[in-house]
Amino acid sequence: MNIAVFASGRGSNFEAILTAIKRGTLPARVVVLVSNKLNAGAMELARSHGIPAAHISEKRFSSEEEYVESLLSVLQQHHTDFIALAGYLKKIPRRVVERFRHKIVNIHPALLPKFGGPGMYGIHVHEAVLAAGETTSGATVHIVDEEYDRGAIVLQRTVNVIPGDTPETLAARVLTLEHELYPEALRAFAEGRVDINGTEAWIRPAASHRQST
Ligand code: GRF
Repeated sequence: MNIAVFASGRGSNFEAILTAIKRGTLPARVVVLVSNKLNAGAMELARSHGIPAAHISEKRFSSEEEYVESLLSVLQQHHTDFIALAGYLKKIPRRVVERFRHKIVNIHPALLPKFGGPGMYGIHVHEAVLAAGETTSGATVHIVDEEYDRGAIVLQRTVNVIPGDTPETLAARVLTLEHELYPEALRAFAEGRVDINGTEAWIRPAASHRQST
């Protein structure tokens, strides 16, 4: 599976994906890193791993059409067949969603469908979880469609909210979980074990190796 990773920030989930590939637990390769931010940590990480890094910002184009063409052409040039958003803060244009239907995923640092949607990113998510008095939070990998944080949920796992948690301590606990969860979800896609039916998605368990007798 040829993955394009899209990231706007430091890129710790991108790094977790690269680590899983290196360890042999994710049968895929990252063919390109796309960022709307020239100075994103993720861009530097791509360069240090010899992965092509494409800076594509809508602001650099005279029309939305040209911007979308540029995204699609970079994806095609690198033979992309799957897109993983890892802290990407821009909406994916409709034509890209259509071209990669059910082949774009995102990781969100809360238990969707709660605490998702416009404005729910970064520390704001954890602030909202604590303000709501939740006793658990977690991370969600979901399919990306035309709406923010609304596509079918592929994989979700929880962490406890601990008395005395601040948004920062909760964010750190959730992030550690994200680094396990994202490669695991991507592995299921790479192994063809994800079934999607409209608004629902399921992961089939990996085939068990039978002991020969
Ligand atoms: C993560 O918390 C992820 O859930 C969210 O953005 C953050 C990205 O962090 N979508 P990083 O850049 O991968 O470290």
